Amino acid sequence: MPFTHYRALKAMPTMTLALLFLFATCSFLSLFLVESVDARTDESFLKIKTDDDFSTREGALKLTKAGHVNEYRVLRGHDKKQKIISTTPDAYVSSEDLPESFTWSNVSGHNFLSKSLNQHIPQYCGSCWAHGAMSALADRIQIASGKKRMQDVNLAIQFILNCGTEVAGSCHGGSHTGAYQFVHDVGFVPYDTCLSYEACSNESIEGSCGYVTDRYKCNAINTCRTCSTFSQLGGFCAPLATFPNATVKEYGTISGEEAIMKELYARGPVAAGIDADGLRSYTKGIYTDTPSYEINHIVSIVGWGVEKKTNTKYWIVRNSWGQYWGEMGFFRIVRGKKSLGIEDEVAWATPGRWTGMKHDDFANFPCFEDGANCQEEDFLPDVKDMAAEYVDPSVKGIPFGKVHSDEKQKEKQ
Ligand SMILES: *[C@@H]1O[C@H](CO)[C@@H](O)[C@H](O)[C@H]1NC(C)=O
Ligand SMILES: *[C@@H]1O[C@H](CO)[C@@H](O)[C@H](O)[C@H]1NC(C)=O
Ligand SMILES: *[C@@H]1O[C@H](CO)[C@@H](O)[C@H](O)[C@H]1NC(C)=O
Repeated sequence: MPFTHYRALKAMPTMTLALLFLFATCSFLSLFLVESVDARTDESFLKIKTDDDFSTREGALKLTKAGHVNEYRVLRGHDKKQKIISTTPDAYVSSEDLPESFTWSNVSGHNFLSKSLNQHIPQYCGSCWAHGAMSALADRIQIASGKKRMQDVNLAIQFILNCGTEVAGSCHGGSHTGAYQFVHDVGFVPYDTCLSYEACSNESIEGSCGYVTDRYKCNAINTCRTCSTFSQLGGFCAPLATFPNATVKEYGTISGEEAIMKELYARGPVAAGIDADGLRSYTKGIYTDTPSYEINHIVSIVGWGVEKKTNTKYWIVRNSWGQYWGEMGFFRIVRGKKSLGIEDEVAWATPGRWTGMKHDDFANFPCFEDGANCQEEDFLPDVKDMAAEYVDPSVKGIPFGKVHSDEKQKEKQ
């Protein structure tokens, strides 16, 4: 069955020998694979994990009905589920304001969304909670920056895996609100151009994370780094003390169809809990089942709509399983029915300040290639003067969704 994928290759006659060789190697390797798969599904794997520091401290790992690790875990360090200062959208968005359909991927022809991600490569990692939370936050920075922004923002999820393991989570699960609390409390999350996603946290023994003690601990080089040249030429990697970053100002939770629509329309995408077991073999269309569920995965809701033919209301949701999954990394699911729990555990966050995306607004402190001029903490510029500051739309009482839709109308006139 798995070999049907290779049908195209088989058609090439010169490849036949190579394929035979590949087949032989695969069968040989699969002996080992089967063994390691057994080790993972068997109780002993979980026992090892439950004996770990992190697991006993944070409670045992749970499996979903389909036998996956439940990736939604609220860690003990996550003691503040919300931090709210501004008026929330339910106070200034009325039901009549809400359009019949709306998505941040197409506001009058403009896409505000940050790039699609894959939490599972280079190896499996249960960091959905960080992906859902940071994707929604990055979207909100792009929305607040307006259509004239000159670059996209992507936030360093690896930093949260390296430094947020007590509050936010790890490759063995975490929470969207925990990720927001962590970024709020620590005061920044770097942009991902100074720390790539590696799908590892210090307790993970998967793939290339395997058994390397302290490689993913929280320190300066695991926050933001640069590498100067090849080591044979005397090169080194060094941490940077100042770098492009964003902050979280406020965060909180909501539930229910209308509250989610208001938050989404007023301020941008939200991170939502869901039962991933219903999604594993989803391919396309509107998921309409309403089985019993448990929240074990986090995704981000970016919009909604109605399918005219069947009069079915749906959410438009971004997953973090790669663009080859579902509708180019997205899925649609029936709205207003709590399908797979999608309307129950929804989190939002607003950005505080972020390094500007225009080269001419001087927000970025320019570092040399080897970072030599970005080593000292003393020279840190005053964040207040340098970064763009978020203005909550509640100040004007006009939702961002409406503002951005109206801009286009004005351009047309
Ligand atoms: C985007 O929205 C506009 C209306 O604002 C619509 O005309 C267009 O078809 C939409 N594009 C896609 C790809 O859905
Ligand atoms: C992972 O890091 C945390 C926080 O630094 C530490 O307490 C824990 O012991 C580490 N766990 C492993 C398995 O290394
Ligand atoms: C975060 O970005 C701001 C604005 O660019 C900058 O002033 C500040 O130094 C940065 N913080 C860190 C820790 O690099």
